[in-house]
Amino acid sequence: MSEFHQLPIPGSGRRRPRADFISDTESISLNGQWRFRLCPTDQGTGDQVYRPETVDDDWDLITVPGHWVLQGHGDPLYTNTAFPFPIDPPRVPHDNPTGDHRLHFNLPDSSPTDDDGRWLLRFQGVDSCATVWLNGVLLGHSKGSRLPFEFDVTDRISTHNLLAVRVHRWSSGSYLEDQDMWWLPGIFRDVELLRRPAEAIDDFFVHADYDPDTSDGILRVDADRPGRLRIDELDLTIDTSEQVRLPAVEPWSAERPRLYRGVLTAGGEEISVPIGFRRVEITDGRFMINGRPTYLRGVNRHEHDPDHGRSLDHDTMRADVIMMKQAGINAVRTAHYPPHPEFLRLCDEYGLWVVDESDIETHGFIYAGWRGNPIDEEDWRDALLDRTQRMVERDKNHPSVIIWSLGNESEGGRNLAVIEEWIRERDPSRPLHYERDRSYRHSDFSSVMYPSLEDLAAIGRREEETPPGIEPGSVDDLRRRRLPFLLCEYAHAMGNGPGSLADYQRILTGHDRFAGAFVWEWIDHGLTGRTGDGQTYLRHGGDIDFQPNGNRYCLDGLLFADRTPSPGLAELQKVIQPISIDRIGNRLEISNERDHTDLADLRFRWCFTVDGVEQEQGTLDVPECAPRSRVQIPMPRLTEPELTAPEDGEGWLSVTAELAHDRPWAPAGHRVGWQQFPIGPARTGPGPVAARVTPTTPIARFDAKGRLVQLAGVDVDGPTLDLWRAPIENDHGQGGRNDRAQVWHKVGLDRVLHRVDDVEWLSQDHLVVTGRSGPASQTLAFRTRWEWTLTAGQLVLDLTADPIGDWDPTGYGDHHVRPPRVGMRLGLPAGYRQVSWFGPGPQESYRDSREAGWIGRHQGSVDDLQTPYPVPQENGNHVDVRWLELSGADLPSLRFDGHPVIDFTARRWTSEALAAAAHRHELVDSGRLWLNLDHGQQGVGSAACGPPLPECHLLPLQTYHYRITITPTGERA
Ligand code: GAL
Repeated sequence: MSEFHQLPIPGSGRRRPRADFISDTESISLNGQWRFRLCPTDQGTGDQVYRPETVDDDWDLITVPGHWVLQGHGDPLYTNTAFPFPIDPPRVPHDNPTGDHRLHFNLPDSSPTDDDGRWLLRFQGVDSCATVWLNGVLLGHSKGSRLPFEFDVTDRISTHNLLAVRVHRWSSGSYLEDQDMWWLPGIFRDVELLRRPAEAIDDFFVHADYDPDTSDGILRVDADRPGRLRIDELDLTIDTSEQVRLPAVEPWSAERPRLYRGVLTAGGEEISVPIGFRRVEITDGRFMINGRPTYLRGVNRHEHDPDHGRSLDHDTMRADVIMMKQAGINAVRTAHYPPHPEFLRLCDEYGLWVVDESDIETHGFIYAGWRGNPIDEEDWRDALLDRTQRMVERDKNHPSVIIWSLGNESEGGRNLAVIEEWIRERDPSRPLHYERDRSYRHSDFSSVMYPSLEDLAAIGRREEETPPGIEPGSVDDLRRRRLPFLLCEYAHAMGNGPGSLADYQRILTGHDRFAGAFVWEWIDHGLTGRTGDGQTYLRHGGDIDFQPNGNRYCLDGLLFADRTPSPGLAELQKVIQPISIDRIGNRLEISNERDHTDLADLRFRWCFTVDGVEQEQGTLDVPECAPRSRVQIPMPRLTEPELTAPEDGEGWLSVTAELAHDRPWAPAGHRVGWQQFPIGPARTGPGPVAARVTPTTPIARFDAKGRLVQLAGVDVDGPTLDLWRAPIENDHGQGGRNDRAQVWHKVGLDRVLHRVDDVEWLSQDHLVVTGRSGPASQTLAFRTRWEWTLTAGQLVLDLTADPIGDWDPTGYGDHHVRPPRVGMRLGLPAGYRQVSWFGPGPQESYRDSREAGWIGRHQGSVDDLQTPYPVPQENGNHVDVRWLELSGADLPSLRFDGHPVIDFTARRWTSEALAAAAHRHELVDSGRLWLNLDHGQQGVGSAACGPPLPECHLLPLQTYHYRITITPTGERA
């Protein structure tokens, strides 16, 4: 018995898997406080766990559902690909933390115990395996952490009951669950007791097809017992197994999730059956739903909460769905296991296409050269099939589920064919996806992860290289090339990033072959930690004293772990917006890039600003526009006096598409698409400064070395040439020679030494300082020329930086040395707390992640400008800023104008301090404000798990010249 967890068998004593549904019959939740004892070995508490005589009053209490490692018992462990135990399948160590759980419960007085009905005990998920006893009698075992299992307990249940569950942290099942995530043991999903009336339906399969040629719905419900289905709004009643053709039904789609509320009756029970008519097909290599080509704008979603791990409540699941809908995301890959069934109900209701993924990943066998990989081993066939069957049976009635995924990153092997065959037989209505078997024999999609832009473009053209191990021109090769392509992971959102989203989107929308793309990933897996002095922070794998660990690799989501959106989400939203707006001469072209709905649910507005100040606004009449088509309308106010901007002002026309009415996921007015168009001549110099003052103190003071020491009477440090940024995760690439940040550090871009060669006052208002800035031990450097000119109330700085020396020294990794930043850093009093600027905003922007920046006037405190990446790194930059103004109590306001634009960051700590801190709470206020006014920074990319930063997003080695005008705009109070 105690060896069950060491064998590859999936379970024993369980009922056969069936559909998850909600009915009007009693169910009793057994969630709550259970008695718990954690033991260091797989012996647990021996037979004490299930014996009724055991006195458990002194056992600990634990909340079910939950993970014991998040309730003060042992540590959560994070590995990316490695197994945290020796590879010796199917066995795991005897030193195997084992949680024994006990619950005493009474059946409510009203519960019938003596009719012909049955009692079922259901576990929605136990990690990694469970052995279950009721009233001292063994019911059985189960593995497959993210899948339900049930026992028929009719003959065992009584008024007073003792339920006992032994959970091993490791089991043979763990070999199949090596997903890149925390290892979190426990009874982490609901436990319920279900009353099943004698004649009730146990399992049913809704077949709700949609015929796009006729708009007919074709409906049949198969069930294990006779029953009747009623759909009131269709005035329809049919028997189970009876097929009907219903004229003119509205199909279900993620865009318009039309559900017909059915009620399935048998044995005195009413089961609610939300029915969505839809058809999923692959026609001529294209992915089609309801007869229309369909594109999935997707994310990969793990279940995560910083305090509860993978134990999510309804509100958290709903929050995910709402946030996705609001961001224009229309698809979810349930990476890498079936989610809580409630999540799928929400996807049905709110409208999200779902790729439902089986709880299978054997990634750690990579360290054994893939020898013994269960995917290819006969002994594991039942276990793999069991997982697949339990997913398909549980989730088969969800209209939102449109694709079954066979699992993730488990290489190829003979068992794939067995799994495939079973699903095709059971559910021919949905296509299959599997990425890691390069023959794609068992997949209806070709698929890879993290391709470069060039490789993706070749895939779009169906001209990609034949994968290794596949014979060019073979049957597999020819079939594979005809398949639609699903980009199941791209744009690794680790730390600051992803960059290049717009570059990817241009390719993805440019080829019919693409069925969709899923960003990696939705949410960071940070877990709440507490410092000695009581501050909370987010822990990653490296914060737990265990080897091996995957360190920070679990922090790679579009949301921070507490569900605060990171700037990557806004960038994605802009890039995938389903409405695009272009200007073609004197007309606007509106493209409806949705697949299933016209524009009737939207209204369009325009607004005209000059220098960020609104001049005029109005609404636009947009004629009917079918899905995947476009219409043109005149520019607003074309015939009246045309929109113009004054000579020295900057005019922008902004056009916005927003919801015309409330939707369940957003109120009317929610923005679903927008674009801005310049009106009038492009800016070449600074704009007018309204509040210039004649200061009583000199605007600038310099020391003998030509260094600026005071600005409008305020002590300043610098400026100095800045060639470095606090590395972002993507700057490290995937480590090794690929680590750009290491190269910067080795050559010393983070330790540049400055020299002044010459200080020359050309007149009393005109100073030129020349020098050299470069690191120790290298010849590479920039020669600098700082030219200062004082004019009425303003100080103008012209900086020229010229690369000299050897920027290609040998022995520093795969990259030529390129500065990640060219700019200047200035230290100012900490009292400057407010910043306003004109340029893209309000969120941070970088040269390859700037689509979400709305060009206008923005303001915020210095603290608001910091993006709270849990591992401190470069953040809060703003590209293309026309001007910014600093203000603070008792300080003269200072305005900095670009000619025409600059990048800026402002923070209370230096880049060095930012790089040195391992967690956010380690950042301390330096007592100064550090302002960077830069020519620019390199892009952010996705190199932490993806291609290197494209050349075009690096900073070229060239002479840089830029100008800034500094204007005191207010006196010291
Ligand atoms: C993929 C994998 C994901 C995750 C990602 C990197 O290879 O499928 O689970 O590990 O890489 O964060």
